[in-house]
Amino acid sequence: MSVSIQLADPGTANRRHFIQQVLPFLPLPGEQGIVDLGCGDGYYCGVLSEVSRALLGGRLPVYRGFDLDEEALARARSEHPHGEFQRADITNGIAEDALASGLTLCCETFSILPDLEELLERMLSHTRGTVAFDFLWSTDGSTEDRVLPLRVLPSFSYHLRSQRRAFDILLRVLARHPEFHVRNTSTWAFSPAAMEEFTGEPGLQAANVWWVLGRD
Ligand SMILES: C[S@@+](CC[C@H](N)C(=O)[O-])C[C@H]1O[C@@H](n2cnc3c(N)ncnc32)[C@H](O)[C@@H]1O
Repeated sequence: MSVSIQLADPGTANRRHFIQQVLPFLPLPGEQGIVDLGCGDGYYCGVLSEVSRALLGGRLPVYRGFDLDEEALARARSEHPHGEFQRADITNGIAEDALASGLTLCCETFSILPDLEELLERMLSHTRGTVAFDFLWSTDGSTEDRVLPLRVLPSFSYHLRSQRRAFDILLRVLARHPEFHVRNTSTWAFSPAAMEEFTGEPGLQAANVWWVLGRD
């Protein structure tokens, strides 16, 4: 079957990467719905809803987005009126039953959260199907996480994780959830110039890595 999906602004490298390398590994949204942690203005709600609309005869998914930023949430509500967008701290402010879904996304948000393990644990504990998320890690062999300024969102810091530490965390979480396995992983490299533009720090070697974890 061939479908034509029109997407608004797949502009950034990460969004293009998501559409080409991540989306094909995600389940159809279906009845179990989508939870989007750190949904911002709902860009990924637009993407997943277009996919749903094209593949499910016009049906839109049940979509629940959570974010702290009221302005972004207001844009999400106005652009995607079928979605449910709530103000909540995704690290500790969401009821467990609200986290239950067929697909849980956390896009471009782990890189500004200090802790990877706790939220990942909650995602795997409450998702009935698949989780997809991305974060930045350094590609210079560093064994330490680094906290950097983030010029585009000055109220947050950028967490550039060490690959080794991030792997340790992922392996620990997966060991507690043997029902999940890695369905796909993919990365794209940040140029040092782009990292410098984002953080003000020269010479950083970094990549953004996406993970799709699914239940058996
Ligand atoms: C870089 S934006 C990504 C937004 C969206 N996922 C996207 O890719 O377009 C990160 C988002 O995470 C939100 N955020 C950061 N920490 C959060 C927290 N503890 N609870 C809820 N939202 C948070 C920010 O407000 C921001 O909208």
